[in-house]
Amino acid sequence: MTAAALPPFRLEHHFGKWEFRARYNVAASDAQTMTVAQLLELADDADRKAWDELALGYTQMEGDPELRARIAATYRGLDADDVVCFAGAEEGLWCALQATLGSGEHALVTTPNYQSMEAVVLSLGTATALPLRSERDWTLDLDAVRAAMRPQTRLIAVNFPNNPTGAVASHETFRALIDLAAERDAWFFSDEVYRGLERDPATRLPQAAELYERGISLGVMSKAYGLAGLRVGWIACRDRALLAKLMALKQYLSICNSGPAEILSRIALKAREHILSRVNGLIDANVRLLDAFFARHRDRFEWNAPPAACIAFPRYLGREGADAYCERLVEGHGILLVPSSIFASELATIPTDRFRIGFGRANLAEALDVWERTFS
Ligand SMILES: Cc1ncc(COP(=O)(O)O)c(C=O)c1O
Repeated sequence: MTAAALPPFRLEHHFGKWEFRARYNVAASDAQTMTVAQLLELADDADRKAWDELALGYTQMEGDPELRARIAATYRGLDADDVVCFAGAEEGLWCALQATLGSGEHALVTTPNYQSMEAVVLSLGTATALPLRSERDWTLDLDAVRAAMRPQTRLIAVNFPNNPTGAVASHETFRALIDLAAERDAWFFSDEVYRGLERDPATRLPQAAELYERGISLGVMSKAYGLAGLRVGWIACRDRALLAKLMALKQYLSICNSGPAEILSRIALKAREHILSRVNGLIDANVRLLDAFFARHRDRFEWNAPPAACIAFPRYLGREGADAYCERLVEGHGILLVPSSIFASELATIPTDRFRIGFGRANLAEALDVWERTFS
């Protein structure tokens, strides 16, 4: 059983320790959430009735058919049978990597990354980094990607918009990566959980499952919709044999999703435009706050607003270093950040003088006031 080969999950451990103790979570990667009552206000009569009359038994293992149809409708050319739901993105990510990488096979993985993508790959086979480098504005060098391909490369795993940098590949780069996978009939796993949060909609990438039969798109209600508590994620892929393998794995894990969460996800997906425009409005306002905050503190931080998501990876210039700074800030002032050491990789050198900041929440102005007072 591969779980034994997995290292501690540093980011989730950090959140396990601090998320509900720190006064200001300025580290979160999900957008501002809403209450059940607020979400139900967006429901049409049919969904409201379904909610009121929902029986709390087991649910269909692949996910509620209507939910899968609504998810599929967010992809060009896919239908409900191309979608399987999971307990959050995390379970989908786990199952997809288990199902696509055989023992000893090779994968390419973007760095820096959300640790599970790299750790699960390394528990199964070998991997080479596709490094997003700060000096290249967190873009990929396609020549280096080509050079990293090996005869036994079976999987290319990417995450755009990227955690923790908020970087997005260009349309050309994304297609070139898929072409590289297609040349070898390799899988293309694309973690798209931050899709929908691009500052400029023209930079929004197509979804991997739309472009390639072996393209696997990972989506979730957690990030752009701000509904992490629903624990509803999904894999979209046109390869039905792969989806069957994922189902076989899910039967050892969550088995099926939570019925209440499925209906609430349906409601949110129907109100998609409304929710995304509210969230993106909040993020735009928060980016303006951060631009002003960091402009006032150029001596302490190096900041460039990222093109997407509600997370960024600025530099801390102070002599004590990012680890000690983040610890001092949370211990002394209740302000939670994520030091870049948490994003350490076995595949690439990740700068240690940075921290992840999250700016999808409604209380950012208040948090920045408190943070600013720590400088005086
Ligand atoms: C890139 C990425 N993928 C997957 C996940 C897991 O998402 P979830 O918490 O919805 O399972 C996260 C969570 O932070 C993430 O950043």
